[in-house]
Amino acid sequence: MIFDVLTLFPKIFQGFLEESMILKALQQKAVEINLINIRDFTHDKHNSADDYPYGGGAGMVMKPEPLYEAITSVKKEDTPVIYFTPQGKLLQQNHVNEFSQKSHLVLLCGHYKEIDQRIRDSLVTDEYSIGDYVLSGGEIPAMVLIDAITRLQKGVLGDISSAHSDSHQKNLLGCPHYTRPAEFRGMKVPDILLSGNHQQIAKWRNKKAMEITRKNRPDLLEK
Ligand SMILES: C[S@@+](CC[C@H](N)C(=O)[O-])C[C@H]1O[C@@H](n2cnc3c(N)ncnc32)[C@H](O)[C@@H]1O
Repeated sequence: MIFDVLTLFPKIFQGFLEESMILKALQQKAVEINLINIRDFTHDKHNSADDYPYGGGAGMVMKPEPLYEAITSVKKEDTPVIYFTPQGKLLQQNHVNEFSQKSHLVLLCGHYKEIDQRIRDSLVTDEYSIGDYVLSGGEIPAMVLIDAITRLQKGVLGDISSAHSDSHQKNLLGCPHYTRPAEFRGMKVPDILLSGNHQQIAKWRNKKAMEITRKNRPDLLEK
């Protein structure tokens, strides 16, 4: 999977690429993550990537020319170009599962008030929000999508069944987990998990997942 990330602030990604699962996935070549600085596609002497909005009002708008050049420098005919925006569809696990089947994604990080609408109209293929709140830029949403997709790539998690049993894969939340010691500050691990009876353990986990989902996200049970 190749991610081409278009951003005005590539340094935001530094720690993200240097730790944990993403580092491992990069080393295994399960993913390639290219950070492309939109400012490199500006041509005026001040390298301006934003300008005042037509019609007035507060906040700057990212200019269309650098965005157009940056996107078309990496986009192939069928590449999804994903723009992160609070106005987009809410990103869900089923979208992540679908995108994880692709081989190349262009991720466009906005900043300031907005990007010029003509780029959204002509080059962006998908618009996603990561939640009903407003961030200062699309870099964190891009990291969210990259992380969620990368952990589904072959060989990245030791055992992919771990990802398949996580929250949201079956419209259910995850269940409680415990590790050693069997008793911690007077709190005991449920007997069933020590029983070795895998059928009963699976049943218990499913029951707990249902209880947690009913309590915290009853909307998922209606799906
Ligand atoms: C300050 S926000 C702009 C918000 C925009 N004026 C609006 O009202 O929808 C700047 C950038 O951050 C990103 N962003 C902010 N919140 C986001 C969210 N919830 N999901 C995805 N991207 C977000 C987008 O790329 C957006 O262009």
